[in-house]
Amino acid sequence: MDEFKVKDIRLAEKGRLQIEWASAHMPVLNQIMERFSREKPLEGVKIGACLHVTKETGVLVEVLKAGGAEVALCGSNPLSTQDEVAAALAEMGVHVYAWRGESPDEYYWCVNRVIDHEPMVTLDDGADLVTTIHKERVEVLEGVKGGTEETTTGVIRLRAMSRQGALKYPIIAVNDAYTKYLFDNRYGTGQSTIDGIVRSTNVLLAGKRFVVCGYGWCGRGIAVRARGMGANVVVTEVNPLRALEAVMDGFTVMPLSEAAEIGDIFVTATGNINVIRGEHMLKMKDGAIIANSGHFNVEISLPDLKKLSEKKRTIRPNLEEYTLKDGKRLYLLAEGRLVNLAAAEGHPSEVMDMSFSNQALCVEHIVKNPRLPPAVYNVPKEIDELVAKLKLKGMNIEIDEMSEEQKRYVSSWEEGTT
Ligand SMILES: NC(=O)c1ccc[n+]([C@@H]2O[C@H](COP(=O)([O-])OP(=O)(O)OC[C@H]3O[C@@H](n4cnc5c(N)ncnc54)[C@H](O)[C@@H]3O)[C@@H](O)[C@H]2O)c1
Repeated sequence: MDEFKVKDIRLAEKGRLQIEWASAHMPVLNQIMERFSREKPLEGVKIGACLHVTKETGVLVEVLKAGGAEVALCGSNPLSTQDEVAAALAEMGVHVYAWRGESPDEYYWCVNRVIDHEPMVTLDDGADLVTTIHKERVEVLEGVKGGTEETTTGVIRLRAMSRQGALKYPIIAVNDAYTKYLFDNRYGTGQSTIDGIVRSTNVLLAGKRFVVCGYGWCGRGIAVRARGMGANVVVTEVNPLRALEAVMDGFTVMPLSEAAEIGDIFVTATGNINVIRGEHMLKMKDGAIIANSGHFNVEISLPDLKKLSEKKRTIRPNLEEYTLKDGKRLYLLAEGRLVNLAAAEGHPSEVMDMSFSNQALCVEHIVKNPRLPPAVYNVPKEIDELVAKLKLKGMNIEIDEMSEEQKRYVSSWEEGTT
């Protein structure tokens, strides 16, 4: 069995510096690392992880190793691996199978190499590792005690598996912790999506009509950040509650068929399929820029774009020009894959600190509770609260505590209008 497969092991030194830089901004993971190094709660545990191979993932892997785990890792997207980080991790003894620009076949080859290591705990981002185990590699199922899932789309897939009785081991939905989605999906995706658009195009956002499809946790982060850069933000939604929130947050809300005609930049963050389709592309202005920040590259219909186009050119990294039959040009970023990871570096370390602290603590929880029945579980409240507490501590922020009188008051019913 290959111990690892990365683009170029000579990039390891650069990767170590990246991981060091991320670690300096991840105080919660550092506190967990200290305890894990002392207590070794993951001694002998084999972990199989399918995560974006970024510098922050590098820090998480160091923490898991400090706890005693053996880690095999592949990327959770063919375009998101930072090759220098993959090299650094390989040099540290992690079984890494990941490089930027994997073909779909290579992507699943890497997933299968991680499964070859017979993980006891799986860490997934999008549920490709879990679904591959359940569909094609059932021989390893018996040894898996449980897993965690990082993102909204993965949790949706796993809940569907659980409803159909197809899920064979317990999974903790890390995405659904408050200390994950309220920060990572909102501030992380918000900032890094703008970063990806700016790095790939360097267009001025001020004064542009910026269309955000989906006003979920990611969408609202993107919308607020784009507004902060001076863009006129339009939101499209299918959920009346979310649409109403967008209206009251001060955004213009309209159907995509109308927004298509006026938008300069379009970003999808819905977790849904074929949101921007040929009918919308036909209405778009010459020069419109289209990007996706949802998990899979299905939100923008690439088959429609290809069908409508006569010519395609790569203008610069992560920026492709499609010329339609009438001569109109549309610009697709990062092949429609998550623009914040493919064209930028993903979420800043400060938010991944919280997401990955939930991951590390949930892995420990699974190891300590090996007999949970197969189902999708919420992150235990104590873990979520601990991460918030440690994050505040890491930021040197203190807060008030309730007095005994206040604790009694908020848990009683006797006192009312006085
Ligand atoms: N890029 C990243 O780094 C990153 C980080 C976290 C999550 N994600 C992914 O981003 C996606 C969104 O995550 P979220 O946490 O915001 O989910 P969410 O469920 O909070 O929000 C999704 C929103 O999209 C709306 N929507 C669905 N179909 C739509 C359509 N056809 N048109 C317009 N709106 C539509 C839904 O009503 C919902 O309000 C998921 O795929 C998630 O896995 C990406």
